[in-house]
Amino acid sequence: MASALLCCLCYSQGQPHTVKIMAKEQQVYLVTGGCGFLGCHLVKMLVERSENIAEVKVFDLYLDENMKHLSTEKVKVTLIQGSVVHAGDVQDAMKDVDVVIHTASLVDVWGKVRPDKILEVNIHGTENVIQACIEQGTQYLVYTSSMEVVGPNMKGDSFYRGNEDTEYDVCHDKPYPVSKAKAEHLVIAANGKQIKGGKQLYTCSLRPTGIYGEKHELMKTYYEKGVQAGRRVFCAIPASIEHGRVYVAPV
Ligand SMILES: NC(=O)c1ccc[n+]([C@@H]2O[C@H](COP(=O)([O-])OP(=O)(O)OC[C@H]3O[C@@H](n4cnc5c(N)ncnc54)[C@H](O)[C@@H]3O)[C@@H](O)[C@H]2O)c1
Repeated sequence: MASALLCCLCYSQGQPHTVKIMAKEQQVYLVTGGCGFLGCHLVKMLVERSENIAEVKVFDLYLDENMKHLSTEKVKVTLIQGSVVHAGDVQDAMKDVDVVIHTASLVDVWGKVRPDKILEVNIHGTENVIQACIEQGTQYLVYTSSMEVVGPNMKGDSFYRGNEDTEYDVCHDKPYPVSKAKAEHLVIAANGKQIKGGKQLYTCSLRPTGIYGEKHELMKTYYEKGVQAGRRVFCAIPASIEHGRVYVAPV
């Protein structure tokens, strides 16, 4: 089987270092939550920009059938309906997958979703993805955590241009950040585990700040509220606060 040597720049305890990995040339990616806001942009980007991908599997509870049309001559896009909560669904979807990008999540910053549902999808769902990596021999797992796992905390302490090693007194009581923090911990702890075939699992957890861009439902709601309020957008964060946001697509 053809393979290529890839060098990745990683950060550990604030220090950059390179990791050399042998990657199969015609890879199969799976994006959980691939029909969601971030997921569908990721799928599009993988299809358009990657040179060594043969297939992108899109796994979601609710499928957007239009995404089938993203397939190109080089890259096949396959839609799979299932729930990360069901281990069998995840195991089936992850057969022959080289890289999984796990974005499926119940995203709830307003406290509208039942806490037990959030914990089930975000924590148990992530456990199922990790277990499927081990049993199906998937070597790379990228998890989208959230800046919410860091803060701001209940005391409102500021977090100024920090990184993952910055000391910060995290105290959360909301289910969403609690679930993301626990899932992130599980993903990082799984790094180095032996997978089917004897290779080693590489995991990575990213903490995006608020993401904006096309198809963002929350943004749409803000704009609609702004129009209703006579074209005024209310600013909840004082101008003195530095608050980073990321655009969803490559710029
Ligand atoms: N949007 C942001 O600003 C932001 C910021 C930081 C981190 N994140 C993280 O990025 C990821 C994606 O967020 P998003 O904004 O695209 O959310 P989203 O709600 O648009 O997408 C989540 C997707 O997961 C799917 N899903 C939910 N439960 C599922 C289940 N049981 N099984 C399979 N699929 C299921 C949903 O159907 C949806 O398509 C999440 O992990 C979120 O925590 C988002």
